[in-house]
Amino acid sequence: MFHTINPDILTRMKYLEDINARDRQDNTPLLQRLRQIPPETGRFLALLAAGSPEGDMIEIGTSAGYSTLWLSLAAEHTGRSITTFEVLPEKVKLARETFKVTRAANRIKLVEGDARDHLRNFKKIAFCFLDAEKDVYADCYEMVVPNLVPGGLLVADNAINHQAVLQPVLDRALTDTRVDALIVPIGKGELVCRKIG
Ligand SMILES: C[S@@+](CC[C@H](N)C(=O)[O-])C[C@H]1O[C@@H](n2cnc3c(N)ncnc32)[C@H](O)[C@@H]1O
Repeated sequence: MFHTINPDILTRMKYLEDINARDRQDNTPLLQRLRQIPPETGRFLALLAAGSPEGDMIEIGTSAGYSTLWLSLAAEHTGRSITTFEVLPEKVKLARETFKVTRAANRIKLVEGDARDHLRNFKKIAFCFLDAEKDVYADCYEMVVPNLVPGGLLVADNAINHQAVLQPVLDRALTDTRVDALIVPIGKGELVCRKIG
């Protein structure tokens, strides 16, 4: 999977990594920043997604499509597609450009809007990456977990760097008898939940 990444994807990843690094240094307003996962988290997500059972792959919080590109490697590897949700029109435009220039668009369905208006349509979720505003995590968690297939994974970003604000949803996951869960200290901290059953 990582040994055969097409050069267009590598070029776009590097382009987005450079913008993301600049955003953090030049006081770009928060909502305009890309706020991407680091590359090691991308690899971690791709490995987990590639090993997930049959079912839908979804992502909540596309930004410019950087994490989606990592997940698209797993989608390609397992012959699936991924649906990703983004609420801000400017980010949707950037993500469309990302998927077009990398020729990854055939594996990716980008949905513009609040993910919470669409999640109920996904009844067999094999893998979900949650990386949106922190105030929607609890709603998304409650909408996704019942619809995870047995062995399906929900991975939520920022479990360490935004631990305080996410504590209620972290506590919910770590004591939820429907899933086995732990927080992995990679990147900004990933909450990993696996559906029991
Ligand atoms: C941290 S960024 C995502 C970064 C991206 N996952 C990456 O690593 O490349 C969060 C994104 O989620 C979007 N977002 C926030 N709330 C959302 C919601 N309810 N539904 C869909 N997108 C949402 C924001 O507009 C923002 O672009």
